[in-house]
Amino acid sequence: MTEKKMRDYQFYGRRKGKKIKASREKLLEVLLPKVRLPEMEKVQDVDPVSFFPVSVNAVWLEVGFGGGEHLAQQSLRHTDIGFIGAEVYLNGITSLLTHLSGMERRGDVGEDVSLAHGRVDNVRIYDNDVRDILPRFKDGAFDRIYVLFPDPWPKKRHADRRFIGPKNIPALIRLLKADGKLYLASDDMNYIRWSLEHLMQFPELEWTAQTAQDWRCPPKDWVETRYEQKALAKGKKPIYLIFKRK
Ligand SMILES: C[S@@+](CC[C@H](N)C(=O)[O-])C[C@H]1O[C@@H](n2cnc3c(N)ncnc32)[C@H](O)[C@@H]1O
Repeated sequence: MTEKKMRDYQFYGRRKGKKIKASREKLLEVLLPKVRLPEMEKVQDVDPVSFFPVSVNAVWLEVGFGGGEHLAQQSLRHTDIGFIGAEVYLNGITSLLTHLSGMERRGDVGEDVSLAHGRVDNVRIYDNDVRDILPRFKDGAFDRIYVLFPDPWPKKRHADRRFIGPKNIPALIRLLKADGKLYLASDDMNYIRWSLEHLMQFPELEWTAQTAQDWRCPPKDWVETRYEQKALAKGKKPIYLIFKRK
């Protein structure tokens, strides 16, 4: 059965970009199996804490981590937190692996893709559509969920492809702990308006902004993502929304 037929939803977007260099292919071969989430198709009520070989105080989920800059930096800053990142774009997954393996800092190190210089104990990757795994986790599994610069799908006829929408919001609410937070950022005002309109319909969620500064500026512990940097370089002003699970 094809992947498409197995699911009642389809993934729209890029899975592969430009050709991946041999040393990076090696990362996919050697490192990815070490940090990939185990098969979850037949399990339920999973506590994500169980995925980490070290003790973690909480788990944060990042949906569509792109090149993984945010995830890599946050996981370095917060070694007591477990991070689960989901991404379908192979070049992005490879990019995160270069950060985790230390290759990013050391430059291209040819065949040496050992983890000796990296740190992966508090990071796990799902290298496919995050919607596959959302139903597998227990209620309140995550303290934070990040959806950063999601694909905007600007055309009206593609609106149902937007990640923040009626299909996924209930799943995100279920997965957030009480007082847990959903972080959403975008430079696409249409997407922001759309998200506000949909998120505000759920009484379980509370928008934390008190003043305009709160949505105009990133929160204190912010790490800029690649898409955010591109937007800022073009003079765009991203919006940062934080919703708390009541
Ligand atoms: C516009 S990019 C932003 C990447 C990154 N968050 C950033 O800000 O640089 C959106 C990413 O989300 C990924 N994505 C979209 N839907 C996804 C899904 N259902 N599961 C996993 N990744 C997804 C895409 O592959 C893409 O890399």
